[in-house]
Amino acid sequence: QPPSSPPPSLCTDIHYENDLDKVIIPHGLIMDRTERLARDIIQDMGGHHIVALCVLKGGYKFFADLLDYIKALNQNSDKSVPLTVDFIRVKSYCNDKSTNNVKVIGGDELSNLAGKDIVETGRTMQTLLSLLNECNPKMVKVASLLVKRTPRSSGYRPDYIGFEVPDAFLVGYALDYNEYFRDLSHICILNEQAREKYRV
Ligand code: IMP
Ligand code: MG
Repeated sequence: QPPSSPPPSLCTDIHYENDLDKVIIPHGLIMDRTERLARDIIQDMGGHHIVALCVLKGGYKFFADLLDYIKALNQNSDKSVPLTVDFIRVKSYCNDKSTNNVKVIGGDELSNLAGKDIVETGRTMQTLLSLLNECNPKMVKVASLLVKRTPRSSGYRPDYIGFEVPDAFLVGYALDYNEYFRDLSHICILNEQAREKYRV
């Protein structure tokens, strides 16, 4: 059971101290799970050149940590393969609501693996996948750190999932509320006061 409030000894992000309701996934647990996902991915994709595509901005922490683990495993394997990276940016949210409008910017190579922050309805990922598939990649696999259990889900499931999370608005570990909280280490639930404080 993760702690129900940010432990003062862990919460280095003092500027957010009064904004959080609770820690849902502490940073150490994120790292442990990500290491395991890297192992699963290498097992499935080992031997193939991987183009890792990061979905910015919310996916940057997960992407960087996942790739570090993949790199370490890759270096220690007998069928070590090249790993290249690309970045794409998508935006659909304002405050804590989806805007029904998925904007995609950047990305100049195809992906064999997409690194993603969170899948809520699945609409962002489905939009992205249909764009990627137009380029006929050999294989596309999606890794998402979080999948939300929500009745709004389209039914879409990524190939690799870190955690299933409750239907609440989450921040931290690169997930934002109007661009704030990306610099928070743990994945947390905001309190009511913070929703107002950072509303646009
Ligand atoms: P979907 O298109 O409904 O799957 O929403 C996915 C996108 O919405 C993610 O890439 C995030 O940018 C954003 N999002 C959804 N839920 C959350 C959340 O709890 N916290 C922060 N961003 C979220
Ligand atoms: Mg966002």
